[in-house]
Amino acid sequence: MHKILDGVAIAAEIKLEVAEEVRLLAGQSVRPGLAAVLVGNVAASEIYVRSKVQTCAELGIYSELITPPDTVTTEDMLDLIASLNDRDDIDGILVQLPLPAYVDTKALLDAILPSKDVDGFHPVNVGRLQAGRPALAPCTPAGIIEILKRSGVPMAGQHAVVVGRSDLVGKPAAMLLLHQNATVTICHSKTRDLGAITRQADILVAAIGRPGFITPEMVKPGATIVDVGINRLNTREEFDRFFRGNAKREATFAKRGSTIVGDVHPKAFERAGAYTPVPGGVGLLTVAMLMANTVHAAQMRRDLPRRGL
Ligand code: GUN
Repeated sequence: MHKILDGVAIAAEIKLEVAEEVRLLAGQSVRPGLAAVLVGNVAASEIYVRSKVQTCAELGIYSELITPPDTVTTEDMLDLIASLNDRDDIDGILVQLPLPAYVDTKALLDAILPSKDVDGFHPVNVGRLQAGRPALAPCTPAGIIEILKRSGVPMAGQHAVVVGRSDLVGKPAAMLLLHQNATVTICHSKTRDLGAITRQADILVAAIGRPGFITPEMVKPGATIVDVGINRLNTREEFDRFFRGNAKREATFAKRGSTIVGDVHPKAFERAGAYTPVPGGVGLLTVAMLMANTVHAAQMRRDLPRRGL
C-alpha cells in the first residue's frame, strides 16, 4: 500500500467509470441531469459548485446552475424545489450548504424528492442507509469508503474512530464503515479523553472542521488517517503554526496569500501508515461520488438496473 492515498488518481478512476455509465445510458436515450442550487456569494461554496458543474460537463451529464440571491425566502426556495422535483430532465437536486441563517435548511432538504436527493441528506435516504437498503449515500462519506477500498485498506474487523458527528459527514461515515464490518466509535466535542480513543484507531477519520486538530500524540503508529477537513489559512501566524519551513507550502502561500490545511496536523501524518492528503485527498472524491449518485438516480428513477459503484 502507498503511504499517500491518492484522491486525484482515485477520483479520476471513478469519473472514468461514471462516464462509461453515461455513455451506456445515452444508448437508451437517457441523459442524467443535475440541478445545482447556489444561494448568495459564499466564496467556498462558489468554488465547490463550479467544480461540480464543470465535472458534469466533462462526463456528459446535463447540469443547470441556479443562483438565487441571498435575499431569497424559504417559500421561494420551496417553489424552486417543487419545480425541479416535477421536471423529468432533472435526476438530481443539490442545494449547496450552508444556506443563509434565515432560510429553513431542514424544510428545503425534506422537500427534495428522495429519488432526486443526490446528496443523501433527506431523512428517507438517511433511514435507508441506516437500514442497509440501497440508497443515495452522502457523497463525502461514500468517497471515504471508495478511497479506502480502492487503496486496499482493510476495514472488516478494524477499529474505525470517527471524530465529528455532523449529519453531512461524521454520522453517515460511521454508518458506512459499520456496513464494511469495521468496529466503529464516534467521538465529538464532549468526548472525554479523546486522545485515548483516537490512539486505538486503526482507521482515524477526522471530520471536525478545526485546522490541525488531530496532533501526533493522538495517532496510533501505523494507523490509516482520513482527513476530511478543508480549512483555509490566511495569516502568516496561522501558516507558521503548521507549515513553517515547508518550501512547497511557502511557495503556495506567497503566490495566493493563503493555503489550506485539514483537520489533521501535518506532523501527525508522519506517524500514519497511510493517509489522505489535503489538498488531493477526500475533497475530490466528494465531486466524483456526486456524479455517481446522479447517474444512479437516473437509473433508479427509470427502473434501470443500478450498475457500477
Ligand atoms: N457543503 C459542504 N459539503 C456539501 C455537500 O456535500 N453537499 C452540499 N449540498 N453542500 C455541502
